[in-house]
Amino acid sequence: MGFNTKLLKGVRHDAVFAELTADKLLPTVLIYGHYDVQPPEPLEEWKTPPFKPTIKGNQIYARGSSDNKGQIMIHLMAVKKLIEKSRNPKSNRKLPINFKFIIEGEEEIGSPSVGNLVKRYSKNLLKCDYLLVSDTEMPSKGQPSIDISLRGLLYAEVEVQSARHDLHSGLYGGVAENPAIVLSKMISKLKDDTGHVLIPHFYDSVKPFSKEELKDFSKLKITPSQIIRESGIYQTTKGEKGFSLEERLWTRPTLDVNGIWGGYQGEGSKTIIPSKSCAKISMRLVPDQNPNEVYKNFVNYMKKTAPNTVKLRFIRHADCLPYKAPTQNKVFDLMKKSLKKVFGKNPVYKGVGGSIGFVPITAKALNVPCLLVGFALPDGNIHAPNERFSLSNYFKGIEAMSGFYSNLDKKNRI
Ligand code: BES
Ligand code: MN
Repeated sequence: MGFNTKLLKGVRHDAVFAELTADKLLPTVLIYGHYDVQPPEPLEEWKTPPFKPTIKGNQIYARGSSDNKGQIMIHLMAVKKLIEKSRNPKSNRKLPINFKFIIEGEEEIGSPSVGNLVKRYSKNLLKCDYLLVSDTEMPSKGQPSIDISLRGLLYAEVEVQSARHDLHSGLYGGVAENPAIVLSKMISKLKDDTGHVLIPHFYDSVKPFSKEELKDFSKLKITPSQIIRESGIYQTTKGEKGFSLEERLWTRPTLDVNGIWGGYQGEGSKTIIPSKSCAKISMRLVPDQNPNEVYKNFVNYMKKTAPNTVKLRFIRHADCLPYKAPTQNKVFDLMKKSLKKVFGKNPVYKGVGGSIGFVPITAKALNVPCLLVGFALPDGNIHAPNERFSLSNYFKGIEAMSGFYSNLDKKNRI
């Protein structure tokens, strides 16, 4: 397509960068996506091979179809369309904007290289007037949306050890500590029955969302039965008192155990007191919580709740900052118009419960707004078997994006 390209070194996987400068005086958009995906397992639950994209009806099935390659393709195709128009001597339509793309390969592990890339390239390669990211979802089919927030993440692992090795539970039961029970008790002290996290200072820097933002969210009118239908959960939990489902999904921090193990897990029985027990614990964060602060408070609290019969070991995994979009910027209204034109419905502002490591870091360093415009759907099975992407959303997305850029060259200079 005539772009200049460059590989940007990553700690595990390099990022792909491309730029096309039509005119130095024009504004520049930096479009972000990620080419890495979550593991496809369990394989036996896939109806078509995860890495052989298969079109059935209005859907394309493949790991990464929604998260995130199908959505990246929307932007490539929209830009391609505009470039072709601009190169057609008969059409006389110059490009309204300069394009940059960065497609990274470490998003699903928390974007560990983005901090350094931004430090190194924020004043040249990555410099832009705004970011554009399609790595989120619409609230339902036919209802376009712009996301105004992302949650952050802190992911940690803890190991509780009480002895050098496993012990006969008859020989030492009664005098030896059981680390699995200790860990369970420690975990039970992390949050109350409403989901409120009990780590001291956990909520200190939580900044409430504005009335206007909450009003926009409440328009979505999410119901427990809708969540139950989409997710397959049996029941929604009680939840913190005074918070709507939208608030609980997007504006409140959470704590979850992602995995827990220790001791004998083989067939039959084995009478031991295990020497170790471990858990992977993650927290979704909201503005302005900081993963470093939260980690410190988490570790201190775990140490405080542990009896002196055990030793603790902590591992810190991925983290992401939370993000809040500056919707007063006029690109948000322009994007709303373009989406409305194609989907025939007024777009809504909503939040995202998940995280995208690149967005908060880059938006802050470059001091630019980020447009989060998702085209995946809640039934797209992201991170799950039979991930899929709606082809009609794909084609509408291309139209909406090329429409957005075409509007830029009218009177809507940003
Ligand atoms: N595309 C998702 C983010 C997302 C999730 C958007 C749900 C909308 C709804 C992204 O690829 C993702 O999965 N991020 C991870 C990051 C983590 C592994 C550091 C996440 O949120 O778990
Ligand atoms: Mn993902």
